[in-house]
Amino acid sequence: MNANASEWKPSPAAAEWTPGGASAPAPAPAAPPQESASSEIDESDPLWLVILNKVCAGDRDRAMKMINNPDSLADYPEVQEVLASMDTGDDDWEKEGDALAEKVEEMAVDDKPAAASAAAPSQDDAMEEEEAAPVVEAVEGDPREHFNLVFIGHVDAGKSTLSGNILYLTDNVDKRTIEKYEREAKDLNRESWFLAFIMDTNEEERSKGITVEVGRATFQTDVHRYSILDAPGHKNYVPNMIMGASQADVGILVISARKGEFESGFDKGGQTREHALLAKTLGVSYLIVVINKMDEPTVQWKKERFDECVSKLKPFLKGCGFTIKREVKFMPISGLNGANVKDEVDPAVCPWWQNCYKNGEHNTDQPTLMSLLDSLELKGRDANAPVRIPVLDRYPDRGTIAMGKVESGTIRPGMKVTVMPTRQTYKVDGLWSEETPLASARPGENILVKLSGAGMEDVQKGFVICSNPPCRSVDKMICQIMVMDLPEHAKVLTAGFQAIFHAHCAEEEATVTKIFETTDKKGKVHKGAAFANVGMRVVCMIEVARTVPVEPFEDYPFLGRFTLRTEGKTCAIGVIKKLPPKKDE
Ligand code: GTP
Ligand code: MG
Repeated sequence: MNANASEWKPSPAAAEWTPGGASAPAPAPAAPPQESASSEIDESDPLWLVILNKVCAGDRDRAMKMINNPDSLADYPEVQEVLASMDTGDDDWEKEGDALAEKVEEMAVDDKPAAASAAAPSQDDAMEEEEAAPVVEAVEGDPREHFNLVFIGHVDAGKSTLSGNILYLTDNVDKRTIEKYEREAKDLNRESWFLAFIMDTNEEERSKGITVEVGRATFQTDVHRYSILDAPGHKNYVPNMIMGASQADVGILVISARKGEFESGFDKGGQTREHALLAKTLGVSYLIVVINKMDEPTVQWKKERFDECVSKLKPFLKGCGFTIKREVKFMPISGLNGANVKDEVDPAVCPWWQNCYKNGEHNTDQPTLMSLLDSLELKGRDANAPVRIPVLDRYPDRGTIAMGKVESGTIRPGMKVTVMPTRQTYKVDGLWSEETPLASARPGENILVKLSGAGMEDVQKGFVICSNPPCRSVDKMICQIMVMDLPEHAKVLTAGFQAIFHAHCAEEEATVTKIFETTDKKGKVHKGAAFANVGMRVVCMIEVARTVPVEPFEDYPFLGRFTLRTEGKTCAIGVIKKLPPKKDE
């Protein structure tokens, strides 16, 4: 994975679908297939489906004749409806930025609507479900729900050590391996790092004692299945951290309570703030703040130190948009010796914790991190919505295998899917969870998808695998952003401001091309403002160099939230309010 997002270059073949979508292959309806070549028909094309099923009651020959004679379609309102939805003819959408600016209320980052429920599955999807090849043998999926946990926080806070210990405590690492890591860590003069070695697997990470790539591992309890995403804390690797957080359901913010470490992590240059902000923007449902290293000689499980960290973090997390009572939980732990990870800390060592959790003082009545995780419930996962799988990465294996998390819908082998932004359609040849073939995958699952006939350039990081109707793909959008920070050279944000746009797994160069309205810290609105300062909310137009597959935040929160980063800083977080009418794609 790239350490620096701005270094990412498209491969020449990938550039075909760019820029600005102008050369994106037109959707199939524009090119009616020949009567003799029914195999050329795109069976998932909404126009073809409505003619075949609604107008011709399944008579393919008649449907073929009709689609080849557009004049004959004028009398059918259902056909006109589909055509209208493909081209709204709305040229004035940009003016809506002003209208929208009037309506936009508080930028409530926490007013998450129920995920994707706005887009109920269309009849087209039902058709595709019918077409899907019956799968008999493959596993129907483990009934236990799957959670992605991202471990975030300042460098050296103890994320990898905690992740490694969780794997050890859940019997995913045997004693002999641990002993080997102890010896290896000792050889590198990094004795206390042996648990981190479970997650930090490459040489550079081990010798420097820092995580670079997002580490991945899985574990299970009787209640849930979990994937660990161990993010790097170092500020050079924030784009890697963003990739991890964009797939996460729960953020575990690791804070070092050690004297001086909490302070430097929380300072302006520290990563605690940026990570917490990114986790919120990227959409975690819960944030568990673990105050770590409680065993450390400068801390010794002192309640005063725990309370100090919590009281400083609370107002800040509130400012990031978290609803503290509902979404944030605090817990003292030692990732190194495992206290309060799987087993509760010995009351002789920490006499005050029992009272705290029994009274639900820190928004949890659970004694340990593991029992807290098992007690969480996720809302907004919609298995009946259209399929949306942002592609995290892909690799060749007798064809191309795409990796990603199912954000909504249910995908099955045999189904037809459309990959955005290229609009190419493919049959799903196979689905796997790690090595296990699946008969279906629901929201929350991390899966591998094999798409029939797709090459490496056809499914790239940041593309989205969709069932019909597919998501949008645009080169401009009206957004509401909050300005968090500005690069050295820019005192204010004006039209022309450039940054890297990160939404789900996609990254693209972007420019703020127009500011419609700003709202300052006191709530005063400035219509037609020319600039914005840090702390302001801004309704603006953002244009990207190449089309990106996205949706308005209201319809699909996970495809509608983004960050703008430049010069190693997160300058703004935002949500997509409005997209151009469909004909512009
Ligand atoms: P990056 O990935 O580089 O951001 O660091 P990290 O957050 O993954 O930290 P890591 O797990 O590599 O730990 C850093 C150091 O803190 C190591 O020396 C650990 O042994 C130490 N450490 C981690 N957790 C604890 C803990 O609970 N108590 C004590 N005393 N030390 C800890
Ligand atoms: Mg680490």
